[in-house]
Amino acid sequence: MMTSKLDAVVVPVGCFDGDLDLFESQYAVPNGVSYNSYLIVDEKTAVLDTVDPRKTGDWLANLEQALAGRTPDYLVIHHMEPDHAGSISTLADKYPDMTLVGNAKTFPMLTAFTGRDFGDRALIVKEGDGLSLGAHTLTFYTAPMVHWPEVMVSFEKASGTLFAADGFGRFGSTNPDDPWVDEARRYYINIVGKYGVQVQALLKKAAGLDIKTVCPLHGPILSGEALALALEKYDIWSRYVPEDKGVLLAYASIHGNTARAALELAEMLRAEGLTVEAIDLARQDWAQAVAGAFRYSGLVLAASSYDAGVFPPMAQFLMRLKSKGFRDRTVGLVENGSWGPSAMKTMLGELEAMKGLDILEPKITIRSAATDENRAQMKELARAMAQAL
Ligand code: FEO
Repeated sequence: MMTSKLDAVVVPVGCFDGDLDLFESQYAVPNGVSYNSYLIVDEKTAVLDTVDPRKTGDWLANLEQALAGRTPDYLVIHHMEPDHAGSISTLADKYPDMTLVGNAKTFPMLTAFTGRDFGDRALIVKEGDGLSLGAHTLTFYTAPMVHWPEVMVSFEKASGTLFAADGFGRFGSTNPDDPWVDEARRYYINIVGKYGVQVQALLKKAAGLDIKTVCPLHGPILSGEALALALEKYDIWSRYVPEDKGVLLAYASIHGNTARAALELAEMLRAEGLTVEAIDLARQDWAQAVAGAFRYSGLVLAASSYDAGVFPPMAQFLMRLKSKGFRDRTVGLVENGSWGPSAMKTMLGELEAMKGLDILEPKITIRSAATDENRAQMKELARAMAQAL
């Protein structure tokens, strides 16, 4: 079938997963998550990525409908993580004449996951290679560590479409009318955040392309103002600079006294004119707290002492901040300890490993429940934070 440039289309064929308990076995997804997959229909047909095995059946039904009796000539594998690659074997078996397109790192991973060798059906591409489908040509660009080493993106010049793998993904639906920034930030910081340098490298490659539309592997397709906003946010996030002036106040309290003090401190910070987002690390979404720490210019940590260290929800939070490359923020600290307070020393030890932090005075120690002296210290800390930001 001959297809003109204008007739050729990109059809979303992915699936929404609304009852997944934890994405990647760790991230709460109260608004669900989508596994996006696309079909390009041209003289040749290309499927771009598969879906998580939880949705293989639904996806195949979408794909068959979009194919309208044709068979796929190519499967392009941008990313081997199983939420996108988990249905490759099924598709390859269903369409034995289909060629699998990946790079030199893709196919060893595919074999490692499936125990199968697809070498006789593999088309191995490298940086800058093109795949002509007719009026449309995909050009491939490697994007290592955005967010695995084998990741590549592809650009379709005729339509100005970037197929961005995990890049520009968002938790939640594919509805472009749903707010993008908060769930995209929570997704980016927690999943890709460690690799800001590599994201900057990808953004530089993208800047040389005339991109009109971005098709990510999670969340909505982006174009126009939504795409401009996404590019602006990705530049901020991947440079580790604060997005908003304000404070993420993260607290970890065993019996509630540390929490009460933290919430009093939150009001004092607000009285200084600061925006404050307070999160109970023991009960609320820690991934939201990690994203918030990167969002704001200030961070306050308040934690109980525990086992001669710090209460585990705070220890885990600090471990995650460190692993994501948290840096260049202003930090206030509050510890609580009824005897031998140890949280401060442990928190400071973890923060020492992070670059460019400005630790404010006073560092506050509460002995069981906040006293008036503690409240005066908290006011002083709130003032110091307001001056620093
Ligand atoms: Fe959505 Fe890195 O997989």
